[in-house]
Amino acid sequence: MTSTIESLCDIQVPVYQAGMGGVGGPKLAAAVSNAGGLGHLGCIRRGAAQIRDWIRQTRDLTDRPFGVNLVPKGPGPDGFEAQLSAVLEERPKVLSLFWGDFGTVIPRAKAAGIVTMAQIGSVAEAERAAAAGADAIIAQGFEAGGHVGGTVGLMALLPAVLRAVAPLPVLAAGGIADRDGVAAALHLGAAGAWVGTRFVATAESLAHDIYKRRLVAAGADDTVHGHGYSYGWPLGSAYRVIPPRRRSPYRFIAGGARRGDRDAYAEGLSLYAGQGVGLIDDVPPAARVLADLAGIDPGTDRYPDALVVGGGDVQAQGDQRGSGQPLHRPANPRSA
Ligand SMILES: Cc1cc2nc3c(=O)[nH]c(=O)nc-3n(C[C@H](O)[C@H](O)[C@H](O)COP(=O)(O)O)c2cc1C
Repeated sequence: MTSTIESLCDIQVPVYQAGMGGVGGPKLAAAVSNAGGLGHLGCIRRGAAQIRDWIRQTRDLTDRPFGVNLVPKGPGPDGFEAQLSAVLEERPKVLSLFWGDFGTVIPRAKAAGIVTMAQIGSVAEAERAAAAGADAIIAQGFEAGGHVGGTVGLMALLPAVLRAVAPLPVLAAGGIADRDGVAAALHLGAAGAWVGTRFVATAESLAHDIYKRRLVAAGADDTVHGHGYSYGWPLGSAYRVIPPRRRSPYRFIAGGARRGDRDAYAEGLSLYAGQGVGLIDDVPPAARVLADLAGIDPGTDRYPDALVVGGGDVQAQGDQRGSGQPLHRPANPRSA
């Protein structure tokens, strides 16, 4: 038996690639979905026609379900309405929303048959999204990379949100970058892990190579939380980034440098990254990252029962990072 949200999303392992504007395009989403997780297109800055184009490109690359991520406050009301219309027509499996009040959006997406998730940073926001009918809540801890909605660390936020919205499935976001992090989130009662920064450092992400190298070089305490200018977001929105190494005119801009951006810009930006960045040592294909997060042993293509089968006390396969502890997914302790 898989968890409710895995069944709804029709995926095999409880790993969800976060929607990431600029860096999460069709190749990354398809690679994650083809590997058994849920890939996501980060569409905050895309117009309706561009969203349709990305959805079609992704469908050419995978038969598996994937999601589209929108941020209502990014493009403003008119821009958002156009984006949403494209999504409602194209009907990807999942729509995830972040930053704002989704009270009227969630029922429309659900009426179109789209599984709808809301990323939140506080218990109050989680309760509002649950009341609006969200199929799942994404609890984003303060550790997270990119824009950060709340002020509470994941370890404290997740149980509080689970309690507040039970029996709704809750995904855990922020600082998760390896299989032990996923296992810890599941152990706390999360229905899955929503992972961003780790997937930026993959072959398929649209991130600039300089950005990927910065993620590999950075340690756990290299990120800072700030409020300032970030491209495409309301001024003053809070975010977590790695500041540039040298003084640069671009350092006051938070962003995710993309392929094709000038090197000086990529070097100079404050680059989105979560506190799990210290666990990133390489830039592999996304399928390899997915396998690691899901606890699949290198050299095998089998999904470990512990991450596929819910409610059991099933031994995971060996852990190359060394914990060797059994992973198990307890039933949500707060939704009984
Ligand atoms: C490069 C980058 C871009 C992001 N862009 C978005 C976005 O467009 N929409 C969104 O809902 N979240 C966005 N996020 C936040 C993620 O959804 C998620 O909360 C975060 O990545 C989780 O923390 P982690 O990066 O430590 O895994 C972004 C994160 C990163 C790292």
